[in-house]
Amino acid sequence: MFILISFFLFPAGTMVYRISLLLLVFMAAATSTASADKQTYIVHMDKAKITALDSMLGDSRKWYEEVMDSITELSTEEEGGEEETSPPQLLYAYETAITGFAAKLSTKQLESLNKVEGFMSAVPDEILSLHTTHSPQFLGLHPWRGLWFAPHFTTDVIIGVIDSGIWPEHVSFHDWGMPPVPSRWKGVCEEGTNFTSSNCNKKLIGARAFFEGYESQRAKINETEDFRSPRDSQGHGTHTASIAAGNVVPGASLFGMGKGFASGMMYTSRIAVYKACYELGCFASDVVAAIDQAVSDGVDVLSLSLGGPSRPYYSDPVAIASLRAVQKGVAVAFPAGNTGPSDLSVFNSAPWMMTVAASSMDRSFSTIVKLGNGEIFHGASLYSGKSTQQLLLVYNETAGEEGAQLCNGGTLSPDLVKGKIVVCDRGIDSPVERGNAGKGEVVKMAGGAGMLLLNTDRQGEELIADPHILPATSLGASAANSIRKYLTSGNATASIFFKGTAYGNPAPAVAAFSSRGPAFVEAYVIKPDMTAPGVNILAAWPPTVSPSGLKSDKRSVTFNVLSGTSMSCPHVSGIAALLKSVHKDWSPAAIKSALMTTAYTQNNNWAPILDLGFNGSESANPFAYGSGHVDPMKAANPGLIYDITHEDYLNYLCSLKYTPEQMALVSTESFTCPNDTVLQPGDLNYPSFAVVFNSDVLNNSATYRRTVTNVGFPCSTYVVRVQEPEGVSVRVEPNVLKFRHLNEKLSYRVSFVAERENSSSGNAVFGSLSWVFWKYTVRSPIAVTWQQPEDY
Ligand SMILES: *[C@@H]1O[C@H](CO)[C@@H](O)[C@H](O)[C@H]1NC(C)=O
Ligand SMILES: *[C@@H]1O[C@H](CO)[C@@H](O)[C@H](O)[C@H]1NC(C)=O
Ligand SMILES: *[C@@H]1O[C@H](CO)[C@@H](O)[C@H](O)[C@H]1NC(C)=O
Ligand SMILES: *[C@@H]1O[C@H](CO)[C@@H](O)[C@H](O)[C@H]1NC(C)=O
Ligand SMILES: *[C@@H]1O[C@H](CO)[C@@H](O)[C@H](O)[C@H]1NC(C)=O
Ligand SMILES: *[C@@H]1O[C@H](CO)[C@@H](O)[C@H](O)[C@H]1NC(C)=O
Ligand SMILES: *[C@@H]1O[C@H](CO)[C@@H](O)[C@H](O)[C@H]1NC(C)=O
Ligand SMILES: *[C@@H]1O[C@H](CO)[C@@H](O)[C@H](O)[C@H]1NC(C)=O
Repeated sequence: MFILISFFLFPAGTMVYRISLLLLVFMAAATSTASADKQTYIVHMDKAKITALDSMLGDSRKWYEEVMDSITELSTEEEGGEEETSPPQLLYAYETAITGFAAKLSTKQLESLNKVEGFMSAVPDEILSLHTTHSPQFLGLHPWRGLWFAPHFTTDVIIGVIDSGIWPEHVSFHDWGMPPVPSRWKGVCEEGTNFTSSNCNKKLIGARAFFEGYESQRAKINETEDFRSPRDSQGHGTHTASIAAGNVVPGASLFGMGKGFASGMMYTSRIAVYKACYELGCFASDVVAAIDQAVSDGVDVLSLSLGGPSRPYYSDPVAIASLRAVQKGVAVAFPAGNTGPSDLSVFNSAPWMMTVAASSMDRSFSTIVKLGNGEIFHGASLYSGKSTQQLLLVYNETAGEEGAQLCNGGTLSPDLVKGKIVVCDRGIDSPVERGNAGKGEVVKMAGGAGMLLLNTDRQGEELIADPHILPATSLGASAANSIRKYLTSGNATASIFFKGTAYGNPAPAVAAFSSRGPAFVEAYVIKPDMTAPGVNILAAWPPTVSPSGLKSDKRSVTFNVLSGTSMSCPHVSGIAALLKSVHKDWSPAAIKSALMTTAYTQNNNWAPILDLGFNGSESANPFAYGSGHVDPMKAANPGLIYDITHEDYLNYLCSLKYTPEQMALVSTESFTCPNDTVLQPGDLNYPSFAVVFNSDVLNNSATYRRTVTNVGFPCSTYVVRVQEPEGVSVRVEPNVLKFRHLNEKLSYRVSFVAERENSSSGNAVFGSLSWVFWKYTVRSPIAVTWQQPEDY
């Protein structure tokens, strides 16, 4: 039993994992009661003990091998030599990401390990899931101007992508005109199935594959179906790598749609690929090994379009490994997840991560559906064929047996659907594992002539375009409700017209699927942090994987369109690399601060960014988009930044009342929480404000402290501008910050006082605090929530 961490994408052909937290809790419980079967653990060891032994043995791997040997002896002794268990298997010796190793152990061996000196904790391995022609322009990046102006473009920024591998021959990864690989680079190009060291070049400068965890818990990778090498058999990793840093490729499109220059956000960056995701997902032990290696190879930015369930960081090896990467100066971007629009659904919510939501662009792949009663609706599709005639519509009981409304495999009756347009619900937990194109396949196999794919109310007006294999289109919830009504009239008909690519739609708008805050683990920072394009993103694709991901689909493409926070995350990784190339000395927190404080909250019509999860008519709030939509040009010159040191993060964890044992798990050096000051989580120097009030108490108030660093104009006077959340008064002291030179730091305090008597648990109100000077507006959102004390 393993917890699934999925790729955060809405395919076009891959599984859509919608994991409820309840299910995860249940699965976690099941894991702990698992049988005597061997299981992989990520084991934390005491750094001090290891350092002492390291000097004796040379390196920690040797010591871990000794540990393995010793527990073999111990456990055989205890069993009285009766039962022969295979010896424990050391999978990884981690260098820095975690102080410890990954090993496959029996329950007995784990018990013995508990007695080994220096043992701290063992976390069962788990499986995480992998939850752009147009996006650069939409983000305000234009060739030869601003940030994309050649002198800004250094080629020595390295983006590490931990994903399902890469298709190295793709034109997006050619190295024409690239200067030699930076000499500081320590990575390698590992050989393996259909992958040789010559597959790397001056663009793709490193490639490695990590599958010890995967193979120890699943079968050996079947080399006719997947590659025991960095080569990508799924397409996800190729897609995300090209979003972050793919070359500029003219004339890229999918079936002629979305045609234009395809380009990564930081197209001159080098790419290093760390494959840790395979057909069934990504094991945490492999992901941690990948982070470990990437940091020691010398990447500047890490992009991980994957994630698992939220839980305290001390029991989350990927969160710990990320903290240590950030400590080494590597900016780390993660997706918010695809489990929106419910509250508390955001994944990857540690404050040192850049947590990215997904929103739409002004581009759409539009369709028109005409009903027999004259009603007209707009939808989205990547179907490349002809429009349909006016045909009879069938749905649910007029299409087949139980389950027919979801068009699950085997539910449609060919007699009923032949030559007709089948109406299918997109569904939430649809067992159709092949996503929406898979429903199209079911309809086509049953003889249907077309498909209307209806959103639920929760999916709202978001329109995911799929590369269907028959005439088919997605439709929003309001169209869906009208069509269901119309269907009851009998003899309902419809026709579908495919209009191709359209631009100029109101955008951005937050996708319904994008996971929402507040964070489940602790609500003291607003998560997600920001939003970036993640709906219908065109990027590189392996020629061996069909665009729909269906085996029956024989089409081969070089670019494909996918949706998900998996796609928005590499946009931010690429932009972080851009900032790194302009500001070499900026810490990961400074880069994130710049991205957040310059993000915008209005769409291209100067109206508030909307939330597609709520029938497209409500404004999105900071729990949907964090500080707003990224603006790379502005982020390059933010005026002020909120910086955070490694010690600040550790103090933050102290303020969450971590025990000394828990602190030892997360920090590389021994760290004692200060006891002389009152630490509060709200004092972390975060570029946004999350205030948690007790819903049982009257007259709530809180005071937070912040420090800003001047990176704009030497002599500058910033004045505060506050938009108070409804019913909360906000006081800032001082309300003017006078800087005399660059890199000067000034502090201020902000007090939040609830004016209304009390508010029910779960309520949230929003506002903002901005420091304004000349062309700079350094904006931080404020989110005030009321919770019952036991909830936080
Ligand atoms: C991998 O290599 C084998 C042997 O050279 C070849 O038969 C196969 O077609 C290759 N697969 C891909 C996807 O390139
Ligand atoms: C590997 O996959 C191929 C193709 O699906 C299958 O025929 C073969 O039996 C598999 N091999 C193993 C060892 O499972
Ligand atoms: C589908 O048909 C069944 C049986 O007639 C009915 O009970 C059910 O409510 C219908 N579902 C929808 C979504 O219309
Ligand atoms: C549907 O069409 C059939 C055949 O054209 C006709 O007999 C029937 O009355 C129609 N039903 C409705 C509800 O219009
Ligand atoms: C959308 O939501 C608003 C407010 O929740 C509601 O007033 C409106 O009727 C809804 N519109 C549709 C088309 O469902
Ligand atoms: C704070 O810690 C120091 C040692 O680190 C200890 O001597 C002192 O008693 C502690 N103070 C309190 C109030 O716990
Ligand atoms: C304030 O909280 C109390 C206790 O939770 C509750 O009984 C009361 O109705 C609340 N008042 C308001 C105005 O929400
Ligand atoms: C809350 O504040 C109001 C107005 O400031 C005051 O009248 C009231 O006594 C306060 N209540 C408590 C319990 O402190």
